[in-house]
Amino acid sequence: MTAKHARIMIFDTTLRDGEQSPGCTMNQQEKLRLAHQLDLLGVDVIEAGFPIASDGDFESVRAIALAVRRPIIAGLARACRLDIERAWEALKDAARPRIHVVLATSDIHLKYKLRITRDQCVQQAREAIRFAKSLCGDVEFSPEDATRTDPDFLCRVLEAVVEEGATTLNIADTVGYTVPSEFGDLITTIRQRVKGIENVTISAHCHNDLGMAVANALAAVLAGARQVECTINGIGERAGNASLEEIVMAMRVRPDRFAYETGVIGDQIFPASQLLSEITGVPVQPNKAITGRNAFAHEAGIHQDGYLKNPLTYEIMTPQSVGVPDSKLVLGKHSGRHALSIRCEQLGYQFDRRALDDIYRRFVRLADKIKKVEDHHLLELIRDTHKPSGSATPLIEPMVAAKAAAANASSTELELSNPFPVGPQTNAFGVPLPVPSDAHEQTQQEDYLWGV
Ligand code: KIV
Ligand code: ZN
Repeated sequence: MTAKHARIMIFDTTLRDGEQSPGCTMNQQEKLRLAHQLDLLGVDVIEAGFPIASDGDFESVRAIALAVRRPIIAGLARACRLDIERAWEALKDAARPRIHVVLATSDIHLKYKLRITRDQCVQQAREAIRFAKSLCGDVEFSPEDATRTDPDFLCRVLEAVVEEGATTLNIADTVGYTVPSEFGDLITTIRQRVKGIENVTISAHCHNDLGMAVANALAAVLAGARQVECTINGIGERAGNASLEEIVMAMRVRPDRFAYETGVIGDQIFPASQLLSEITGVPVQPNKAITGRNAFAHEAGIHQDGYLKNPLTYEIMTPQSVGVPDSKLVLGKHSGRHALSIRCEQLGYQFDRRALDDIYRRFVRLADKIKKVEDHHLLELIRDTHKPSGSATPLIEPMVAAKAAAANASSTELELSNPFPVGPQTNAFGVPLPVPSDAHEQTQQEDYLWGV
């Protein structure tokens, strides 16, 4: 990262908004464990909970405030005295406490939920921030449902709370309603119209109801937001929050578009995701970007072949850059000869081209029936294909037993940290580059078939 890259604060709300996901509640011990991992991950702010919500949440926020000393520890409060007092009670011993005050500003919330007028809303926001500020220097204000609030009124409320000393304004897309261009414009409007805005941090809090939370958060950053609120694995109310790992990696993989830096330690991303899943018992969606089990798995033969020749053909980041141990090649009906031959080698068998073709045909027939071919299926198939009385080309003798044992014949998901015991030339992933051979220099058509 260069000096021109602006620093974006990562405000992690896994322990508060994330915990509001059905099935994701955590007890004090679990929250504390995750908070330590968030600290290792390098987030700037941990929103530890909503202290007024329950005694358990109060104790969790307090325990985290006492134990986790590097990041800012925030606690949520509605815009009323009791909530703010309770939040402060839980936070007051933190090394860096923050009171986070929320008050809805959209007409629909004012009319049906809060039953107050716009003027009353401004007044309540002012009083709440003034009171919070009398307790704590670091006060964040969130206009709930900001994206469905009349922009003129939103600017009026924001200006009032800036006057009262709010230090962060968190623009909440509470119901995941906005789209990137609109949200970026809203941040620009706020920057242009709210007096004193240059002295506060603008933050974005995006929900994923239309699947645009990360895109909206990034649009806000492009428009001048310098804090994003997000969660591990994107958990949160309803469809969840913007996912921390996706925001951070978008900035790392596309610095040409997002020239920003964060304090997140990349290789702690996957451990954080796994820990959250272990604690809540909620599995990560397999195709979840960055942290899903398929995020670095390749099944199609064309992809596997390209990947094995050079991972850059099908991977835009290394698995290691986010703490995933390795990429995987999954053997299924879309897999090709290249990956199959490698797995056979790992299991201790090396075949010439004709023998491999034979195995491959049978493998595809099997994969069609059973979807995922495990190692024991493959071993059966190899033995069956090469029975002495069989018609297939005899296999080259099994390689040393140790190699087969090391292959840990349990699954056909190939972990690629040391996939090829033979072959002198390897690429950046330790994957040997194909050695030109007579067989390999046949026709282009054959080379293509290698992939499929
Ligand atoms: O979605 C929301 O509006 C919130 C606020 C508390 C920021 O979670
Ligand atoms: Zn939220």
